[in-house]
Amino acid sequence: MKEKLDEILGRAIRELDQADQPQRLEELRVAYTGKKGELTSILRGMGSLSPEERPVIGARANEVRAKIEAKLAEAAARMKKKEEERRLAGETIDVTVPGTPCRIGSRHPLTLVRREIEDIFTSMGFSVAEGPEVEFGYYNFDALNTPANHPARDVQDTFYFSDNMLLRTQTSSVQARFMENHKPPLRMICPGAVYRSDDVDATHSPFFHQIEGLIVDRNIGLSDLKGALTQFSQMFFGPETRVRFRPHHFPFTEPSAEMDVSCFACGGAGCRLCKGEGWIEILGAGVVHPNVLRMAGIDPEIYSGYAFGIGQERLALLKYKIDDMRLLFENDTRFLHQFY
Ligand code: DAH
Repeated sequence: MKEKLDEILGRAIRELDQADQPQRLEELRVAYTGKKGELTSILRGMGSLSPEERPVIGARANEVRAKIEAKLAEAAARMKKKEEERRLAGETIDVTVPGTPCRIGSRHPLTLVRREIEDIFTSMGFSVAEGPEVEFGYYNFDALNTPANHPARDVQDTFYFSDNMLLRTQTSSVQARFMENHKPPLRMICPGAVYRSDDVDATHSPFFHQIEGLIVDRNIGLSDLKGALTQFSQMFFGPETRVRFRPHHFPFTEPSAEMDVSCFACGGAGCRLCKGEGWIEILGAGVVHPNVLRMAGIDPEIYSGYAFGIGQERLALLKYKIDDMRLLFENDTRFLHQFY
């Protein structure tokens, strides 16, 4: 019986060493140490042994059982480890594989220009205001001293919702709104979209953007206007930039002017960009008309001011050397990605 026990132990160890599936391990456990297993049947047969043999064989049988159980545990641990290694190998991440590129957006040229203009004017003490694009005729025209028969009020030029409601044609409307809520001294700029009944071409669009400026205080005059806008132009286009004022007419300013900057491409000699002129027009401006102040409840005997309106698209086209305004509105990302 002792030989039989040794034989069982040897066989069990061999088979357990070879086992490589949890299922096989379970089969072996049942076959050797289970209720109907080989060891159990040996122990059952101990009754036929002599009293001297019985404790010796019994001790040996227990020893063999303990060894087989230890071996079973060892095989189970080995399998678990192997399974873990297999899983880990499957889950390996190669951190050196190049990632999937994610497309990062860029700022629209109009946004870039607006922010730059805002930075320049806020550094001069202007605050940034906003106003509605759907506007009353009153703020767009009447409060700006624009008579009922003015050509800009024609349906040919302006989109109307009704007799007194329209899409604003100029950010100047915000001047009138701002003066209703703020008393002088005041200094504001207002960027925003405006609408005109225009056909689309390389330099026109029914939808475009302006930046309005307004300052009202004591003793403000044309020289202040000239100083601030010269400063702005040199910060935006470069320190060599010169400015030129040409007389013009706007109902809400008197005197009124259009302002040109010396061409930053040729320095004023004349080139393709400035169409040989040496100068490029960028804004309209003037000294605020006393009627405009009066309508806003500000006494023109005490206060005066200046105002201006900058074409945002114009500046974007110039700054980024874009030769067709339509590119700004087509939303072709191949174009837009060039600016930052
Ligand atoms: N609103 C004018 C336009 O759209 C531009 C302008 C001119 C604005 C003179 C002003 C100004 O504030 O004083 O053409």
